[in-house]
Amino acid sequence: MEHASSTQEIPPHGDVPRHVAIIMDGNGRWARRRRLPRIAGHRRGVEAVRGAVRCCVERGIEYLTLFAFSSENWRRPDEEVALLMQLFQRALGNEVRKLHANGVRLRIIGDAARFDPKIRELIEAGERLTSPNRRLTLTIAANYGGRWDVLQALSRLVRERPGVAAGQIDEAALAPYLAMSYAPEPDLFIRTGGEQRISNFLVWQLAYTELYFTDTLWPDFDAQALDAAIASYRDRERRFGRTGEQVEEAKRAQSLAIDPRRRAGTAV
Ligand code: IPE
Ligand code: IPE
Ligand code: MG
Repeated sequence: MEHASSTQEIPPHGDVPRHVAIIMDGNGRWARRRRLPRIAGHRRGVEAVRGAVRCCVERGIEYLTLFAFSSENWRRPDEEVALLMQLFQRALGNEVRKLHANGVRLRIIGDAARFDPKIRELIEAGERLTSPNRRLTLTIAANYGGRWDVLQALSRLVRERPGVAAGQIDEAALAPYLAMSYAPEPDLFIRTGGEQRISNFLVWQLAYTELYFTDTLWPDFDAQALDAAIASYRDRERRFGRTGEQVEEAKRAQSLAIDPRRRAGTAV
């Protein structure tokens, strides 16, 4: 399915964001404050993921994308990386059936080549099992980097279209090769843990996403914290480079559409 590009069209705007992308940061600090090992914070982080999935389903959010492990996180101490991998493997093993029972489609984005074969098998099986589900698409970014994504898309495009002229490579040509081509661009980005940076998350897809930063540490991020982020999103005017008047006109046109669930973007 083709999704509107925010640099080309105004995507449909509702009170609830269609796609929420989160940098789940602050697990280590959460643990340190309690004099616990960092991994205890990561374990509580998995519980917060369960809560976030439930909240998103309840609120009718269609896509939830979570940054779980960046391509730069391999630089952490070996022990923390090994424990994080163990936790990822266990979560995949334990949660997929429950996700499936709740109508959640699971996708993993990132370079899976570096993962243990057991993790790769669990990813493939989990994605296959949940592929028909549409209630919520849960994407976990693991060994993901935004720059890696743009580069892998470009190299796949060139490989699959040998002889493609440089002038033919535009946004529309690249889009199908990006790791999240199945999803619309995020409407709302949340980063917990107080830092105000993107840390090589979805660098292409966040071009016009509303950014929300909170000091709340990820293990403490609950339904109330999510609702505060959504309320902040609701109050913003997304202009996509246009004037406020143009945006109002586009919104009127969208609400006049016969089918209120119409998803097509409105070109202005
Ligand atoms: C985020 O929490 C989880 C991962 C990056 C895997 P951190 O582990 O970065 O927590 P802080 O930032 O050290 O508190
Ligand atoms: C970003 O958090 C990556 C994830 C949450 C997976 P980091 O804790 O790695 O980010 P920096 O190092 O503070 O930028
Ligand atoms: Mg961190």
